[in-house]
Amino acid sequence: MIPKTVRERVEALRQQIREHNYLYYVLDNPEITDAEYDALFAELAALEHEYPQLVTADSPTQRVGEPVTDGFRPVRHGQPMLSLSNVFGEDDLADFDRRVRERLSAGVVTYIGEPKLDGLAISILYEEGVLKQAATRGDGTVGEDVTANVRTVRGCPLRLRGSDVPARLEVRGEIYIPKAGLKALNARQLAAQGRPFANPRNAAAGSLRQQNPAVTAQRPLSLFCYAIGEFAGGGMPDTQDGLLDFLKDLGLPVNPERRVVEGVAGCLAYHADLQRRRDSLPYDIDGVVYKVNSLRDQVRLGAVSRSPRWAVAHKFPPEEMPTRVEAIEVQVGRTGALTPVAVLRPVAVGGVVVSHATLHNAFELARRDIRVGDTVHVRRAGDVIPEITGVRLSERPASAVPFVFPDHCPVCGSPVVRAEGGMITRCAGGLFCDAQRKQTVRHFASRRALDIEGIGEKLVDQLVDTGLVRTVADLYRLSVEDLETLERMGRRSAQKLVEAIRASRQTTLPKLLYGLGIPEVGEATAQMLSRHFCTLGALMAADEETLMKVPDIGPVAAHAIRTFFTEPHNEKVLAALKAAGLEIAPMEAVVPSAVAGKTIVLTGSLRGLTRADAQAALRARGAKVTESVSARTDYVVAGDDPGSKIERARALGVPVVGEEQLQEWLREPA
Ligand code: IVH
Repeated sequence: MIPKTVRERVEALRQQIREHNYLYYVLDNPEITDAEYDALFAELAALEHEYPQLVTADSPTQRVGEPVTDGFRPVRHGQPMLSLSNVFGEDDLADFDRRVRERLSAGVVTYIGEPKLDGLAISILYEEGVLKQAATRGDGTVGEDVTANVRTVRGCPLRLRGSDVPARLEVRGEIYIPKAGLKALNARQLAAQGRPFANPRNAAAGSLRQQNPAVTAQRPLSLFCYAIGEFAGGGMPDTQDGLLDFLKDLGLPVNPERRVVEGVAGCLAYHADLQRRRDSLPYDIDGVVYKVNSLRDQVRLGAVSRSPRWAVAHKFPPEEMPTRVEAIEVQVGRTGALTPVAVLRPVAVGGVVVSHATLHNAFELARRDIRVGDTVHVRRAGDVIPEITGVRLSERPASAVPFVFPDHCPVCGSPVVRAEGGMITRCAGGLFCDAQRKQTVRHFASRRALDIEGIGEKLVDQLVDTGLVRTVADLYRLSVEDLETLERMGRRSAQKLVEAIRASRQTTLPKLLYGLGIPEVGEATAQMLSRHFCTLGALMAADEETLMKVPDIGPVAAHAIRTFFTEPHNEKVLAALKAAGLEIAPMEAVVPSAVAGKTIVLTGSLRGLTRADAQAALRARGAKVTESVSARTDYVVAGDDPGSKIERARALGVPVVGEEQLQEWLREPA
């Protein structure tokens, strides 16, 4: 016999978890912390473990099922899954609108604009509110049964919410992988020697066609619903906009970027707005969809062959365009690395005018043999630097010759050296090179380094070009009178700048180390070195062997650090900084530990100690303990009855360790 109180508690927990899923995945407005959610989940899992008779298929714990053994069963769609025809510009769209108006005998038509996601169409069937079946689009008439895999999509409810649940509802939508998810997934693929996915669509499709749902569960799949197929037993809204609200109330995620617009002008404004914001959306879209908003009018319009007459896709301009290479320039970075850049005849790619594309390095350039005069394809993906994806060799002019990489720095004329297996070419001029000098000063003054407000690119150029600043230590010698001689610099700005430079003298060791721009030393390494050595003097005195005792410092970094501090020029700059009154705040000593610098998340209940004690003990050993699992998490420690953090860790490929490992770490003295 199962006590009534247990039954009730199990039901109450399921209700609460569903509601929190809804708040999180549909409203994007969670009301509890991950830890609280995990606790509810763990309690439910424990009760179901104790009373297995209580487990139901729609319990939030039942997402990952058994592997499919004999392929995916075919599913015939009750109503065909249509595809969309395209419009390729204003004129096309005006034609579409005219046809709609004529058929409806309407003046102005109200449309709804929706983002067109780059994923995979899915049909999900709910009976009495419970997820029964999910199928791919297939050829539009027959798809494949991927129920077990769709169940693992966390944003997809296993049970619909509310009291007004239709008896039978087939929702349609798009399964997709958000940009961040694809990045993490591809990093994991590469780490496991696998091939990265070329685009989010392939990644989503590959993930849904896994035989083992446990594998799919590790893929960061998401869902947006945008239509319905079969529907029975319930009232129906009048408009597409109302339908999306209705789906949302049932606990189904819908895209928040939809907008009701009037006529062609409204559609075009929506298109332009989303195109402009495309890069800042957390998922890839390849265009927008316009749909006649009235569902009655949709029925009146019907479909021709496989496409509805009431909807159309309007894609964004291609992200790849042909253009001409007008010149190849070589830029010099902070560490002296020479980067070849193609100067292009300006061309609009994905709505942005592109005039430069990186050619990466001398090696890449030679391998691809891109020449001035070539016609190339440029691609712009997201906010990354445009790249050349291909050369049209048939269009190469007879006069085009291979690019000869300079053997002297184009800025200071020093000879260049090849390093890192010939991949990178560096100017040997060091701080004698004005290009490196400028970048070094910029980096030193940047926010995460010494944080000197008001030192921008233009000002640094002037400071270096006039010879006022040759090393970062010279900044502290600048007077108001010096600065006043510069262009666009009044007395007041000069005073403010001198004040800001003065204030930056009070700094911390990690900021200083990062700001010095030591090769191989980024922010995280600067932190790690600071914790280990506590003072600049101790670090400067350390030999390579001592340096390698610091977590994450390998022979390459150790050598780079040692070389930096033994370089007479750098010694002089450091002495000058000291003389200028640099004050480094003392570090709190932390004994080196295996967890120093690691980001750790705790989940589940620990047997040996309280969570607060575990957190404090880890922190005392230099670890960062955080609440939620992200790609930056190094370890998840799972106690008894861990919650959803485990799933998330697995999805992101973060190692999960047990309480024994935690005890092991804590055996080291703090
Ligand atoms: S509506 C009857 N809305 O685009 C219209 N489709 O070629 C059915 N898609 O297979 C689709 N975002 O995979 C619709 N907001 C959206 C969409 C969308 C992406 C995909 C869908 C469909 C294809 C149409």
